[in-house]
Amino acid sequence: MDRMYRFQRHFYDLSRKYYLLGRDRLISDMRISEGDHILEVGCGTGRNLEILSRKYPDTRFYGLDASSEMLRNAERRKESKALRNMHVVRALAEEYSHSDTFGLEDPFDAIFFSYSISMIPDWESAVENSLRNLRNGCPLYIVDFFDQRSMPAWFRKALVAWLKKFHVQYRPDLLPHLKQLEKNGKGSLKVTPLYKTYSFVAEFTKTP
Ligand SMILES: C[S@@+](CC[C@H](N)C(=O)[O-])C[C@H]1O[C@@H](n2cnc3c(N)ncnc32)[C@H](O)[C@@H]1O
Repeated sequence: MDRMYRFQRHFYDLSRKYYLLGRDRLISDMRISEGDHILEVGCGTGRNLEILSRKYPDTRFYGLDASSEMLRNAERRKESKALRNMHVVRALAEEYSHSDTFGLEDPFDAIFFSYSISMIPDWESAVENSLRNLRNGCPLYIVDFFDQRSMPAWFRKALVAWLKKFHVQYRPDLLPHLKQLEKNGKGSLKVTPLYKTYSFVAEFTKTP
């Protein structure tokens, strides 16, 4: 991961603006209250955390990422913009905990994944771990690539090949997995397809 991002981190935000679509929609739709503790899993350069930290100065935002190269950008962003309510650490999505990784007594009030599920090989464990670290009755949000079934076949093929270069892969089993969790009484699921079926936002509210 670090090898891939060592150079990419310098132009990451500019290039991803054009194809990580739906991130701003998720940010604007998130249910956030003053005093909440909110985590982004796979926060990368901290682009989303900066927007949120500025918008909600009385809420605390946390980020974790597997890549220390990406986190160098996030740390620089936090320092240069004096974002006192933003805190990032190096940790794995599958293993972190609110207490050991972040020193928090209580689980998070919301957790979100923005285009990180498609990069995390064991995404099932990452979802399971996040549900463990989420307060009952609170939302887990995911924005990521959808199946693009309404796009032309040549577009789908080109996108898949392009994403593969960055170890990114559409997860066809993710939404059925969340539906199954809903059936098992773990929470309730709302899915919104975006830009036809380019991407989606899922909101999984953990059972109170
Ligand atoms: C495509 S980037 C998205 C960054 C950011 N969320 C955004 O919306 O701009 C995916 C991020 O997930 C991180 N990542 C991949 N696997 C991970 C894992 N197992 N645990 C934590 N982070 C991981 C990568 O290092 C990368 O920074």
